[in-house]
Amino acid sequence: MTELTGPCISAMSASVMTISEAKHVAIVGATGAVGQEMLDCLDERNFPISELTLLASARSAGKEIPFRGNLIKVKELTHDSFEGVDIALFSAGGDLSLEYASSAAAAGAVVIDNSSAFRMDDQVPLVVPEVNPEAIKDRPKGIIANPNCTTIITLMALSPLHKLYGLRSIIASSYQAVSGSGAQGIIELDEQIKVLGAGGEVTEDMKNVYPHQIASNVIPHVDAFTENGYTKEELKMLNESRKILNLPDLRVTCTCVRVPVHRSHSVSVTAQFERPVDVAEARAAYAACPGVDAKDDPENSLYPVPLDTTKKDNCLVGRIRKDMVFDNALALWVVGDQVRKGAALNAVQIAELV
Ligand code: A2P
Repeated sequence: MTELTGPCISAMSASVMTISEAKHVAIVGATGAVGQEMLDCLDERNFPISELTLLASARSAGKEIPFRGNLIKVKELTHDSFEGVDIALFSAGGDLSLEYASSAAAAGAVVIDNSSAFRMDDQVPLVVPEVNPEAIKDRPKGIIANPNCTTIITLMALSPLHKLYGLRSIIASSYQAVSGSGAQGIIELDEQIKVLGAGGEVTEDMKNVYPHQIASNVIPHVDAFTENGYTKEELKMLNESRKILNLPDLRVTCTCVRVPVHRSHSVSVTAQFERPVDVAEARAAYAACPGVDAKDDPENSLYPVPLDTTKKDNCLVGRIRKDMVFDNALALWVVGDQVRKGAALNAVQIAELV
Protein backbone atom coordinates (compact mmCIF):
# COMPACT_ATOMS: atom_id res chain seq x y z
CA MET A 1 0.00 0.00 0.00
CA THR A 2 1.32 3.41 -0.96
CA GLU A 3 2.12 5.80 1.88
CA LEU A 4 -0.81 8.06 2.74
CA THR A 5 0.68 11.33 1.55
CA GLY A 6 0.14 13.58 -1.45
CA PRO A 7 -3.00 14.67 -3.23
CA CYS A 8 -5.08 11.54 -2.73
CA ILE A 9 -5.19 10.94 1.01
CA SER A 10 -8.98 10.90 1.29
CA ALA A 11 -9.34 8.48 -1.61
CA MET A 12 -6.62 6.20 -0.25
CA SER A 13 -8.40 6.11 3.09
CA ALA A 14 -11.63 5.23 1.34
CA SER A 15 -10.02 2.45 -0.65
CA VAL A 16 -8.86 0.65 2.50
CA MET A 17 -12.22 0.74 4.24
CA THR A 18 -13.34 -2.71 5.30
CA ILE A 19 -16.72 -4.19 4.54
CA SER A 20 -18.16 -5.32 7.83
CA GLU A 21 -20.93 -7.76 6.95
CA ALA A 22 -22.33 -9.67 4.02
CA LYS A 23 -25.11 -7.89 2.16
CA HIS A 24 -28.21 -8.88 0.22
CA VAL A 25 -27.47 -7.32 -3.17
CA ALA A 26 -29.97 -6.83 -5.99
CA ILE A 27 -29.03 -5.91 -9.57
CA VAL A 28 -31.74 -4.29 -11.68
CA GLY A 29 -30.79 -4.87 -15.32
CA ALA A 30 -28.71 -7.93 -14.45
CA THR A 31 -28.85 -9.28 -18.02
CA GLY A 32 -27.52 -6.05 -19.57
CA ALA A 33 -23.93 -5.18 -20.40
CA VAL A 34 -23.38 -3.10 -17.26
CA GLY A 35 -25.34 -5.54 -15.08
CA GLN A 36 -23.08 -8.38 -16.24
CA GLU A 37 -20.00 -6.25 -15.59
CA MET A 38 -21.35 -5.48 -12.09
CA LEU A 39 -21.44 -9.23 -11.41
CA ASP A 40 -17.80 -9.55 -12.56
CA CYS A 41 -16.75 -6.63 -10.34
CA LEU A 42 -18.60 -7.97 -7.27
CA ASP A 43 -16.93 -11.32 -7.75
CA GLU A 44 -13.41 -10.05 -8.49
CA ARG A 45 -13.50 -7.71 -5.49
CA ASN A 46 -14.79 -10.48 -3.18
CA PHE A 47 -17.75 -8.32 -2.24
CA PRO A 48 -19.39 -10.12 0.71
CA ILE A 49 -22.84 -11.21 -0.46
CA SER A 50 -25.36 -13.09 1.67
CA GLU A 51 -27.99 -13.18 -1.08
CA LEU A 52 -28.06 -12.05 -4.69
CA THR A 53 -31.28 -11.04 -6.46
CA LEU A 54 -31.03 -10.64 -10.22
CA LEU A 55 -33.80 -8.58 -11.82
CA ALA A 56 -34.63 -7.84 -15.45
CA SER A 57 -37.66 -7.71 -17.74
CA ALA A 58 -40.29 -10.45 -17.98
CA ARG A 59 -38.46 -11.60 -21.14
CA SER A 60 -35.49 -12.74 -19.04
CA ALA A 61 -37.39 -14.19 -16.07
CA GLY A 62 -36.20 -17.73 -15.37
CA LYS A 63 -32.92 -17.32 -17.23
CA GLU A 64 -29.99 -18.64 -15.16
CA ILE A 65 -26.83 -16.60 -14.63
CA PRO A 66 -23.71 -18.15 -13.04
CA PHE A 67 -22.20 -16.43 -10.00
CA ARG A 68 -19.55 -17.88 -7.67
CA GLY A 69 -20.34 -21.46 -8.64
CA ASN A 70 -24.13 -21.10 -8.40
CA LEU A 71 -26.74 -20.61 -11.08
CA ILE A 72 -29.03 -17.75 -10.09
CA LYS A 73 -32.48 -17.40 -11.67
CA VAL A 74 -33.35 -13.97 -13.02
CA LYS A 75 -36.64 -12.59 -11.69
CA GLU A 76 -38.97 -10.07 -13.26
CA LEU A 77 -38.59 -6.59 -11.75
CA THR A 78 -41.65 -5.52 -9.74
CA HIS A 79 -42.26 -2.99 -6.98
CA ASP A 80 -42.10 -5.90 -4.50
CA SER A 81 -38.67 -7.11 -5.63
CA PHE A 82 -36.70 -5.41 -2.86
CA GLU A 83 -37.79 -6.99 0.43
CA GLY A 84 -34.71 -7.64 2.57
CA VAL A 85 -32.36 -6.09 -0.01
CA ASP A 86 -29.50 -4.03 1.47
CA ILE A 87 -28.01 -2.66 -1.74
CA ALA A 88 -29.83 -2.27 -5.07
CA LEU A 89 -27.62 -1.59 -8.07
CA PHE A 90 -29.76 -0.12 -10.86
CA SER A 91 -28.65 -0.25 -14.49
CA ALA A 92 -31.74 -0.62 -16.64
CA GLY A 93 -32.18 2.95 -17.90
CA GLY A 94 -33.52 6.17 -16.43
CA ASP A 95 -37.23 5.43 -16.86
CA LEU A 96 -37.03 2.25 -14.78
CA SER A 97 -34.89 4.00 -12.16
CA LEU A 98 -37.51 6.73 -11.86
CA GLU A 99 -40.25 4.13 -11.53
CA TYR A 100 -38.62 1.63 -9.16
CA ALA A 101 -35.80 3.31 -7.17
CA SER A 102 -38.17 4.76 -4.57
CA SER A 103 -39.73 1.31 -4.02
CA ALA A 104 -36.27 -0.12 -3.37
CA ALA A 105 -35.37 2.74 -1.01
CA ALA A 106 -38.74 2.42 0.80
CA ALA A 107 -37.97 -1.27 1.37
CA GLY A 108 -34.75 -0.22 3.12
CA ALA A 109 -32.22 -0.74 0.33
CA VAL A 110 -29.53 1.78 -0.52
CA VAL A 111 -30.00 2.42 -4.24
CA ILE A 112 -26.93 2.99 -6.40
CA ASP A 113 -28.26 4.22 -9.72
CA ASN A 114 -26.25 4.14 -12.92
CA SER A 115 -28.75 6.16 -14.96
CA SER A 116 -28.93 9.94 -15.30
CA ALA A 117 -32.35 10.05 -13.59
CA PHE A 118 -31.20 11.40 -10.20
CA ARG A 119 -27.72 12.76 -10.88
CA MET A 120 -28.61 16.43 -10.59
CA ASP A 121 -31.10 15.96 -7.71
CA ASP A 122 -29.85 18.03 -4.73
CA GLN A 123 -30.87 15.23 -2.37
CA VAL A 124 -28.92 12.57 -4.25
CA PRO A 125 -25.13 12.45 -3.92
CA LEU A 126 -23.17 11.96 -7.16
CA VAL A 127 -20.06 9.99 -6.32
CA VAL A 128 -16.72 8.91 -7.72
CA PRO A 129 -15.17 7.07 -4.75
CA GLU A 130 -11.63 8.28 -5.48
CA VAL A 131 -12.83 11.89 -5.78
CA ASN A 132 -15.67 12.62 -3.31
CA PRO A 133 -16.29 9.52 -1.14
CA GLU A 134 -17.52 11.67 1.75
CA ALA A 135 -20.60 12.66 -0.29
CA ILE A 136 -22.25 9.24 0.16
CA LYS A 137 -23.07 9.97 3.80
CA ASP A 138 -25.74 12.55 2.98
CA ARG A 139 -28.39 10.56 1.07
CA PRO A 140 -31.84 11.58 2.34
CA LYS A 141 -33.62 9.67 -0.42
CA GLY A 142 -31.58 6.50 0.10
CA ILE A 143 -30.29 6.93 -3.46
CA ILE A 144 -26.70 7.50 -4.62
CA ALA A 145 -26.07 8.32 -8.29
CA ASN A 146 -23.25 6.97 -10.43
CA PRO A 147 -21.94 9.72 -12.73
CA ASN A 148 -21.77 9.76 -16.53
CA CYS A 149 -18.98 7.51 -17.86
CA THR A 150 -17.03 10.22 -19.73
CA THR A 151 -17.24 12.49 -16.70
CA ILE A 152 -15.91 9.78 -14.37
CA ILE A 153 -12.95 9.06 -16.64
CA THR A 154 -12.13 12.76 -17.09
CA LEU A 155 -12.31 13.46 -13.35
CA MET A 156 -10.11 10.46 -12.55
CA ALA A 157 -7.41 12.35 -14.47
CA LEU A 158 -8.23 15.83 -13.16
CA SER A 159 -8.98 15.22 -9.48
CA PRO A 160 -5.31 14.67 -8.45
CA LEU A 161 -4.34 17.82 -10.36
CA HIS A 162 -7.21 19.79 -8.84
CA LYS A 163 -5.89 18.91 -5.39
CA LEU A 164 -2.46 20.25 -6.38
CA TYR A 165 -3.36 23.35 -8.37
CA GLY A 166 -7.09 24.18 -8.03
CA LEU A 167 -9.17 23.50 -11.16
CA ARG A 168 -10.72 26.49 -12.99
CA SER A 169 -11.79 25.25 -16.42
CA ILE A 170 -11.94 22.21 -18.68
CA ILE A 171 -11.88 22.12 -22.48
CA ALA A 172 -12.40 18.54 -23.63
CA SER A 173 -13.08 16.37 -26.67
CA SER A 174 -14.13 12.77 -26.11
CA TYR A 175 -13.55 9.74 -28.32
CA GLN A 176 -16.33 7.40 -27.17
CA ALA A 177 -16.54 3.68 -27.88
CA VAL A 178 -19.62 2.10 -29.47
CA SER A 179 -20.26 -0.13 -26.43
CA GLY A 180 -21.42 3.07 -24.76
CA SER A 181 -24.54 2.63 -26.93
CA GLY A 182 -25.10 -0.90 -25.62
CA ALA A 183 -24.85 -4.19 -27.45
CA GLN A 184 -26.55 -2.75 -30.55
CA GLY A 185 -23.72 -0.25 -31.03
CA ILE A 186 -21.18 -3.08 -31.21
CA ILE A 187 -23.35 -5.08 -33.60
CA GLU A 188 -23.79 -2.06 -35.91
CA LEU A 189 -20.04 -1.36 -36.06
CA ASP A 190 -19.16 -5.02 -36.66
CA GLU A 191 -21.73 -5.45 -39.44
CA GLN A 192 -20.52 -2.32 -41.21
CA ILE A 193 -16.85 -3.37 -40.90
CA LYS A 194 -17.75 -6.78 -42.37
CA VAL A 195 -19.56 -5.27 -45.37
CA LEU A 196 -16.80 -2.76 -46.06
CA GLY A 197 -14.14 -5.47 -45.71
CA ALA A 198 -15.93 -7.51 -48.36
CA GLY A 199 -15.84 -4.53 -50.75
CA GLY A 200 -19.51 -3.61 -50.22
CA GLU A 201 -21.23 -0.42 -49.14
CA VAL A 202 -23.04 0.48 -45.93
CA THR A 203 -26.70 0.93 -46.78
CA GLU A 204 -29.35 2.99 -44.93
CA ASP A 205 -30.90 -0.10 -43.32
CA MET A 206 -27.54 -0.79 -41.60
CA LYS A 207 -27.66 2.57 -39.77
CA ASN A 208 -29.98 2.11 -36.80
CA VAL A 209 -28.04 3.17 -33.71
CA TYR A 210 -26.09 6.05 -35.28
CA PRO A 211 -27.29 8.67 -37.79
CA HIS A 212 -24.22 8.06 -39.98
CA GLN A 213 -21.95 5.16 -40.89
CA ILE A 214 -19.71 4.54 -37.86
CA ALA A 215 -17.17 2.19 -39.51
CA SER A 216 -14.27 4.21 -41.00
CA ASN A 217 -15.85 7.36 -39.60
CA VAL A 218 -16.23 9.53 -36.48
CA ILE A 219 -19.50 11.18 -35.47
CA PRO A 220 -19.54 14.38 -33.35
CA HIS A 221 -22.89 13.50 -31.82
CA VAL A 222 -23.39 11.56 -28.56
CA ASP A 223 -26.89 11.73 -27.01
CA ALA A 224 -29.51 14.30 -28.07
CA PHE A 225 -28.81 17.90 -29.00
CA THR A 226 -30.11 20.65 -26.72
CA GLU A 227 -31.18 24.17 -27.65
CA ASN A 228 -27.76 25.73 -26.99
CA GLY A 229 -26.08 23.50 -29.58
CA TYR A 230 -24.42 21.19 -27.04
CA THR A 231 -25.54 17.59 -26.61
CA LYS A 232 -26.91 16.22 -23.34
CA GLU A 233 -23.70 14.18 -22.99
CA GLU A 234 -21.62 17.36 -23.23
CA LEU A 235 -23.75 19.13 -20.64
CA LYS A 236 -23.39 16.14 -18.29
CA MET A 237 -19.65 16.82 -18.27
CA LEU A 238 -20.32 20.43 -17.22
CA ASN A 239 -23.04 19.88 -14.63
CA GLU A 240 -21.79 16.64 -13.12
CA SER A 241 -18.18 17.86 -12.82
CA ARG A 242 -19.41 20.93 -10.94
CA LYS A 243 -21.43 18.78 -8.53
CA ILE A 244 -18.80 16.08 -7.93
CA LEU A 245 -15.95 18.54 -7.38
CA ASN A 246 -18.21 20.97 -5.50
CA LEU A 247 -17.06 23.73 -7.85
CA PRO A 248 -20.26 25.56 -8.90
CA ASP A 249 -18.32 28.06 -11.01
CA LEU A 250 -16.19 25.53 -12.88
CA ARG A 251 -16.14 26.37 -16.61
CA VAL A 252 -16.44 23.42 -18.98
CA THR A 253 -16.77 23.16 -22.74
CA CYS A 254 -16.83 19.80 -24.40
CA THR A 255 -17.34 18.06 -27.75
CA CYS A 256 -18.34 14.41 -27.47
CA VAL A 257 -17.50 12.21 -30.44
CA ARG A 258 -18.42 8.59 -31.22
CA VAL A 259 -15.51 6.65 -32.72
CA PRO A 260 -15.30 3.14 -34.26
CA VAL A 261 -13.71 1.63 -31.13
CA HIS A 262 -15.38 -1.29 -29.37
CA ARG A 263 -14.64 -0.45 -25.76
CA SER A 264 -12.95 2.27 -23.60
CA HIS A 265 -13.49 5.99 -23.95
CA SER A 266 -10.62 8.44 -24.50
CA VAL A 267 -10.72 12.14 -23.65
CA SER A 268 -8.40 14.94 -24.79
CA VAL A 269 -8.39 17.57 -22.05
CA THR A 270 -6.97 21.03 -21.55
CA ALA A 271 -7.41 22.01 -17.91
CA GLN A 272 -6.66 25.43 -16.52
CA PHE A 273 -5.80 25.85 -12.86
CA GLU A 274 -5.60 28.61 -10.23
CA ARG A 275 -1.90 28.07 -9.60
CA PRO A 276 1.20 27.43 -11.76
CA VAL A 277 1.56 23.84 -12.94
CA ASP A 278 4.56 21.56 -13.26
CA VAL A 279 4.52 18.62 -15.69
CA ALA A 280 6.86 16.36 -13.70
CA GLU A 281 4.95 17.04 -10.48
CA ALA A 282 1.62 16.39 -12.22
CA ARG A 283 2.87 13.09 -13.66
CA ALA A 284 4.24 12.04 -10.27
CA ALA A 285 0.93 12.84 -8.55
CA TYR A 286 -0.74 9.83 -10.16
CA ALA A 287 1.64 7.41 -8.43
CA ALA A 288 -0.05 8.18 -5.10
CA CYS A 289 -3.61 7.98 -6.44
CA PRO A 290 -5.65 4.77 -6.59
CA GLY A 291 -7.58 4.01 -9.76
CA VAL A 292 -5.45 6.06 -12.15
CA ASP A 293 -1.92 5.62 -13.49
CA ALA A 294 0.34 7.73 -15.66
CA LYS A 295 1.50 6.11 -18.90
CA ASP A 296 3.49 8.95 -20.29
CA ASP A 297 6.71 8.42 -22.19
CA PRO A 298 5.81 9.73 -25.65
CA GLU A 299 9.35 9.49 -27.03
CA ASN A 300 9.03 5.74 -26.67
CA SER A 301 5.47 5.80 -28.05
CA LEU A 302 4.11 5.18 -24.56
CA TYR A 303 0.73 6.81 -24.04
CA PRO A 304 -2.65 5.24 -23.29
CA VAL A 305 -4.82 3.76 -26.04
CA PRO A 306 -8.30 2.23 -25.59
CA LEU A 307 -7.06 -1.34 -25.90
CA ASP A 308 -4.82 -0.73 -22.83
CA THR A 309 -7.75 -0.21 -20.48
CA THR A 310 -10.33 -2.62 -21.85
CA LYS A 311 -11.61 -4.83 -18.97
CA LYS A 312 -9.17 -3.04 -16.64
CA ASP A 313 -10.09 -1.13 -13.49
CA ASN A 314 -7.63 1.75 -13.73
CA CYS A 315 -7.76 4.78 -16.00
CA LEU A 316 -4.54 5.80 -17.73
CA VAL A 317 -3.23 9.33 -18.33
CA GLY A 318 -0.58 10.37 -20.84
CA ARG A 319 0.58 13.17 -23.16
CA ILE A 320 0.82 15.44 -20.10
CA ARG A 321 2.23 18.77 -21.24
CA LYS A 322 1.97 22.50 -20.61
CA ASP A 323 -0.81 23.98 -22.67
CA MET A 324 0.47 26.52 -25.19
CA VAL A 325 -2.61 28.78 -25.15
CA PHE A 326 -3.61 29.21 -21.52
CA ASP A 327 -1.56 30.13 -18.44
CA ASN A 328 -1.45 27.62 -15.56
CA ALA A 329 -2.86 24.95 -17.87
CA LEU A 330 -2.06 21.34 -18.73
CA ALA A 331 -3.04 19.37 -21.81
CA LEU A 332 -3.46 15.62 -21.33
CA TRP A 333 -5.07 12.47 -22.70
CA VAL A 334 -7.02 10.08 -20.45
CA VAL A 335 -8.41 6.65 -21.31
CA GLY A 336 -10.69 4.38 -19.28
CA ASP A 337 -13.02 1.42 -19.68
CA GLN A 338 -16.42 3.08 -19.64
CA VAL A 339 -18.34 -0.13 -18.91
CA ARG A 340 -16.09 -0.83 -15.92
CA LYS A 341 -14.79 2.35 -14.20
CA GLY A 342 -17.32 4.45 -16.11
CA ALA A 343 -20.23 2.39 -14.78
CA ALA A 344 -20.10 -1.04 -13.07
CA LEU A 345 -16.89 -0.74 -11.06
CA ASN A 346 -17.72 2.76 -9.84
CA ALA A 347 -21.12 1.49 -8.62
CA VAL A 348 -19.55 -1.48 -6.81
CA GLN A 349 -16.93 0.80 -5.22
CA ILE A 350 -19.79 2.99 -3.94
CA ALA A 351 -21.44 -0.15 -2.53
CA GLU A 352 -18.18 -0.89 -0.69
CA LEU A 353 -18.35 2.53 0.96
CA VAL A 354 -22.01 2.20 2.05
P1 A2P B 1 -33.77 -7.73 -20.44
O1 A2P B 1 -32.51 -8.41 -20.83
O2 A2P B 1 -34.74 -8.68 -19.82
O3 A2P B 1 -34.37 -6.88 -21.54
P2 A2P B 1 -28.61 -2.95 -21.89
O4 A2P B 1 -28.56 -1.48 -21.59
O5 A2P B 1 -27.27 -3.59 -21.92
O6 A2P B 1 -29.45 -3.26 -23.08
O7 A2P B 1 -29.39 -3.62 -20.60
C1 A2P B 1 -30.65 -3.19 -20.19
C2 A2P B 1 -31.08 -3.98 -18.97
O8 A2P B 1 -32.33 -3.45 -18.53
C3 A2P B 1 -31.30 -5.45 -19.26
O9 A2P B 1 -30.96 -6.23 -18.15
C4 A2P B 1 -32.80 -5.49 -19.49
O10 A2P B 1 -33.40 -6.74 -19.24
C5 A2P B 1 -33.26 -4.51 -18.45
N1 A2P B 1 -34.62 -4.09 -18.76
C6 A2P B 1 -35.08 -3.54 -19.90
N2 A2P B 1 -36.42 -3.32 -19.81
C7 A2P B 1 -36.80 -3.73 -18.57
C8 A2P B 1 -38.03 -3.78 -17.86
N3 A2P B 1 -39.18 -3.33 -18.40
N4 A2P B 1 -38.04 -4.29 -16.60
C9 A2P B 1 -36.90 -4.72 -16.05
N5 A2P B 1 -35.69 -4.72 -16.66
C10 A2P B 1 -35.64 -4.23 -17.90
